[in-house]
Amino acid sequence: MTYQTLIFEIRDGVAFVTVNRPDKLNALNDQVMLELADAAERIATETEIKGAILTGAGPKSFVAGADIGDLSRQGPFDGKARAQRGQGVLRRLETCGKPVIAAINGFALGGGCELAMACHIRIASENAKFGQPEVKLGIAPGYGGTQRLPRLVGKGVAMQLILTGETIDAPEAYRIGLVNKVVPAADLLAESEKMMRGILAMGPLAVRLAMEAVDQGLEMSLDEGLLLEANHFGLLAATQDMKEGTTAFLEKRSAKFLGR
Ligand code: COA
Repeated sequence: MTYQTLIFEIRDGVAFVTVNRPDKLNALNDQVMLELADAAERIATETEIKGAILTGAGPKSFVAGADIGDLSRQGPFDGKARAQRGQGVLRRLETCGKPVIAAINGFALGGGCELAMACHIRIASENAKFGQPEVKLGIAPGYGGTQRLPRLVGKGVAMQLILTGETIDAPEAYRIGLVNKVVPAADLLAESEKMMRGILAMGPLAVRLAMEAVDQGLEMSLDEGLLLEANHFGLLAATQDMKEGTTAFLEKRSAKFLGR
């Protein structure tokens, strides 16, 4: 697929995906969602790609939400279909099996906050702003905000953000646990890449199964989640990576993981 609204670059195993509609603050129109679906599939399936960093073009906005022009024209059935399509794209990204970091360089509102929450780690620039302002438009979050926000920050704070539509700044987003780290804007991509490279130096199978256990485990009872974790732990004990990681530690050298 030739992208019109995304920049997709692979550098040394990392896919850098930039939503590129800066004149519309990178709002998610149907074209962006179509292209993001393709990008998520590529991240999941291309072996050359080991992880992805998602950001927005320009200094002002990560993604300022779903495109309000598109939303204004929708009826109940295409509205539901749009929500389900968007949810599917974000879920594909979340379950792609490789680490995805959101580098949040400004507004992350509505669908932008939802897109960031579907990533595994969120790093924000100091000027980033977050919110779920859908209620101001007479709608409610539709790309997973009502589900992922309470899972990340707890029910009470999520309710407040979703019901008031208020915007919060990066330090507040950090305080409530919505983002992992806040950095100066000039350092955002470098810091995101540094964290990604650190993760990619770990055992890739271990990273993959740990992500899966966290993601799936949140939907299970504690006993089911613990069993899943033990199964993954056992599975990893059959990998060359575990032999390499433990041997390297005992031999006081760095591990060289092969993902096998
Ligand atoms: N959908 C469509 N277009 C959007 C958009 C969105 N979600 N967010 C911003 N834009 C467009 C604006 O319409 C404007 O386009 P124009 O220059 O053709 O008029 C352009 O992006 C710049 O936005 P502008 O509002 O002029 O910037 P600002 O700095 O004054 O305000 C925001 C920034 C983010 C506060 C404001 O754009 C906003 O509230 N956006 C909507 C956020 C939202 O409700 N998102 C959830 C949607 S479900």
